[in-house]
Amino acid sequence: MWFGVLHAVVFPVLCLAATLADLVLPDSVDATSGQARPPRPTSTPRPGNYIKASVRKEQVVITNNVTSNGTTATALARRWGRLPLSLYEGGIVYLMDVNLGSPSQTIQVVVDTASFELYVNPDCARAANPSFCSSAGRYEAMDSGTSENLTTRFGVSFGSGGYAGTYFCDTLSLGDDYWPIVHQQFGVANASAYVWAGMIGLGYGEGYNTHYPTMLDRLVEDGYISQRVFSVGLGGEGSGNSDIIFGGVDYHKFEGWMEPVEIWPSPTEQMEQFGQVGLTTRYWVNLTSLGHTRPGQQATEQLTANGFTQMMLIDTGSTFSYMDSDIVAALAEQFNATLDDEQDVYYVSCSYLSGDDSTGYMHFGFNQGDIVIDVKYEDFVIDLGGRCALGVQPADEGAATWVLGDTFIRGAYIVFDQYYDAVWLANYRPCGEEAVADLGKDPGEQLWNEIYGGC
Ligand SMILES: *[C@@H]1O[C@H](CO)[C@@H](O)[C@H](O)[C@H]1NC(C)=O
Ligand SMILES: *[C@@H]1O[C@H](CO)[C@@H](O)[C@H](O)[C@H]1NC(C)=O
Ligand SMILES: *[C@@H]1O[C@H](CO)[C@@H](O)[C@H](O)[C@H]1NC(C)=O
Ligand SMILES: *[C@@H]1O[C@H](CO)[C@@H](O)[C@H](O)[C@H]1NC(C)=O
Ligand SMILES: *[C@@H]1O[C@H](CO)[C@@H](O)[C@H](O)[C@H]1NC(C)=O
Ligand SMILES: *[C@@H]1O[C@H](CO)[C@@H](O)[C@H](O)[C@H]1NC(C)=O
Repeated sequence: MWFGVLHAVVFPVLCLAATLADLVLPDSVDATSGQARPPRPTSTPRPGNYIKASVRKEQVVITNNVTSNGTTATALARRWGRLPLSLYEGGIVYLMDVNLGSPSQTIQVVVDTASFELYVNPDCARAANPSFCSSAGRYEAMDSGTSENLTTRFGVSFGSGGYAGTYFCDTLSLGDDYWPIVHQQFGVANASAYVWAGMIGLGYGEGYNTHYPTMLDRLVEDGYISQRVFSVGLGGEGSGNSDIIFGGVDYHKFEGWMEPVEIWPSPTEQMEQFGQVGLTTRYWVNLTSLGHTRPGQQATEQLTANGFTQMMLIDTGSTFSYMDSDIVAALAEQFNATLDDEQDVYYVSCSYLSGDDSTGYMHFGFNQGDIVIDVKYEDFVIDLGGRCALGVQPADEGAATWVLGDTFIRGAYIVFDQYYDAVWLANYRPCGEEAVADLGKDPGEQLWNEIYGGC
């Protein structure tokens, strides 16, 4: 499933945050030059204000050959090379609960870092999986005493399908503790195609992609958290709970320091460059290497040359990652993958999911190797119900569709930081009980100097 926003309205920048270059670092350390980090701090990070939301992994199988505007989904899919995967086989998505209205109505929505708004109420009859769609919950404005119909229309199209409908405002209660945000704007669909759940976008909101405060903006405005930052730990097979922590970081889910990777192009540059072609401002970062270690081997084989750099979108709403076809072909050869020409999809043996064959690793490098995220084969190969697919598939030619999806994210602990316009990365290495540190006014300073992962 791919939920990246392709078209949306762009508005001028209203808010400017700090950049990594503004980080006041000890001993003039340059955040991106690979110089030594400070010694491990002796004090424990302070607990404080944050909102934790549990996330559930769900494997969704496509059961409905949906049509849109009289066109079959197959024809729609042809426009986007990756779609046959999601069309024929479904995928893995991560869902969280939002509670809307008074009394509150619980709805499961897909967590999506590549978009920025909350949408509910897809048309289940035209969903790729109608039964999942029906079980995910619906928002009934009539049943809420605090609902307001804004009557303005919205429309959004995604890699697969889209929603159209009317904006509403209502109370949104968020996270495991149901913190209320009153009068939150969101989209209630009355038409949709393919999509089988609502979604919550966690990207750049007001001043970048919207002219109203999104949920993430409201968490700051309402004083729940200090800056637009949140941590994502989806984790891999058998590594426990997945969650998102708004305004906090769980330092028992990684070891050592997190590495800041600059969002590039910067959000301001994205608005200038991409806005003209209808693309939104998102979490793009440079990947600087891709390699792998075969099962039972010690040596890492690089699939990319020295000096390689490729901008990649970090997208929790995408089951797969997508890169240029030559790199994917080289990787596919290593996995003895077979290409389904018609679908343009690489399939591999499901033996990579268990036993000796599963002990290999993929390696995603950033900042010229300062941080390398290791993903186990079992988290990288996707089981589509008896048939298994390679975790990186070919991106469309000529379109900016390079994606680091869940087959990368499962190996990482990530802080999305709209204050420093950075994404902080560490390998996902859970230990002990949850231990959350509050991220305050200067999250970068804390992540650079204070918050050290491990038990
Ligand atoms: C969906 O419908 C189209 C057109 O009718 C057909 O070509 C295609 O094979 C169908 N796909 C599936 C998965 O049934
Ligand atoms: C359906 O058709 C209408 C009118 O032609 C168009 O505006 C809309 O974008 C189409 N929707 C999709 C999903 O193609
Ligand atoms: C919201 O307002 C629009 C425009 O007036 C209307 O078409 C729609 O039916 C309303 N929706 C609900 C649920 O009342
Ligand atoms: C959705 O609502 C709008 C505005 O009320 C209306 O024009 C449109 O026909 C509706 N679409 C569907 C599929 O009901
Ligand atoms: C990202 O890579 C491009 C070249 O592809 C380079 O021009 C740019 O400076 C890099 N950005 C960062 C932040 O490293
Ligand atoms: C790929 O296939 C070749 C020939 O069948 C075999 O020798 C090799 O071990 C296989 N490699 C992997 C990684 O399975």
